Amino acid sequence: MIATITQQARHWSRHAEGYENVFLDPYRPGVVNPLLERLEAVPTPGGKALIDLGCGTGPLLERVVGRFGTVHALDFAPAMIDRARQRLGERAEQVTFHIRAMHELDDLAGQFDVAVAINSLVMPDTRAIDRTLKAIRNCLKPDGLFLGIVPAIDAVHYSTLLLMDRALDEGKAPSIAEAEAARTAEHHLFDFAFGRFAYKGLEQKFWQPFEVEYRLKKAGFTELTLEKLLYPWDDDIAGGAAFADHPPSWDWSFTARP
Ligand SMILES: C[S@@+](CC[C@H](N)C(=O)[O-])C[C@H]1O[C@@H](n2cnc3c(N)ncnc32)[C@H](O)[C@@H]1O
Repeated sequence: MIATITQQARHWSRHAEGYENVFLDPYRPGVVNPLLERLEAVPTPGGKALIDLGCGTGPLLERVVGRFGTVHALDFAPAMIDRARQRLGERAEQVTFHIRAMHELDDLAGQFDVAVAINSLVMPDTRAIDRTLKAIRNCLKPDGLFLGIVPAIDAVHYSTLLLMDRALDEGKAPSIAEAEAARTAEHHLFDFAFGRFAYKGLEQKFWQPFEVEYRLKKAGFTELTLEKLLYPWDDDIAGGAAFADHPPSWDWSFTARP
């Protein structure tokens, strides 16, 4: 497990520079992002401590530095932390950065009112996920709040359904429709049974909604909420504007209490 984590940290560092070209942006205009709304609703943030786990290039940090009293940011990929520092400029001095894996939080036990993990609970080994969730719970104060977004594997099934039906409605044979849907939704990158995605050295976990509930409860979290983060039908989503008449695609956004 440690070898995998070290290897993945290297791959994530390699992807830091071109990050925006490869990954779905949950902050872009048109996205309905319940996590950001729930974060806005946290009362008296000026007196609270927040940690951004898997901060990446720092898009969340921009929104919380200066608003929350104490801000920590953690990522195991040094190049991601570099980009986050650059993004913040002088404001980086207001953030305590940690370059390490997300399950290594023992020295921060009980310190945070809010922990956030946006698309960073993606380790392919589910033992690492379980260990990380327990560590996150442990770093929160007893009345703390954990907010997260995880990539949805069921949204890939949804895209597949729409792509397949469109091809069939155009009169294509089922075998052709399937091949087209599989190509457009990039099925060759996914392991649908185990919820994994592999791309240029990165191996990421994708989640079913029932697994979000299962693993949070397994780690001891309570008061779970689960909502869809909705993406606009644009070029970043398979099929794009052609499906604008259908409900939008999603990732999963959750909150939980320790
Ligand atoms: C998809 S990016 C998301 C970055 C950021 N949260 C955002 O919303 O743009 C995932 C980030 O999590 C980091 N990450 C993944 N697994 C991690 C782990 N086990 N420990 C620490 N960082 C991790 C990666 O290095 C990467 O920067």
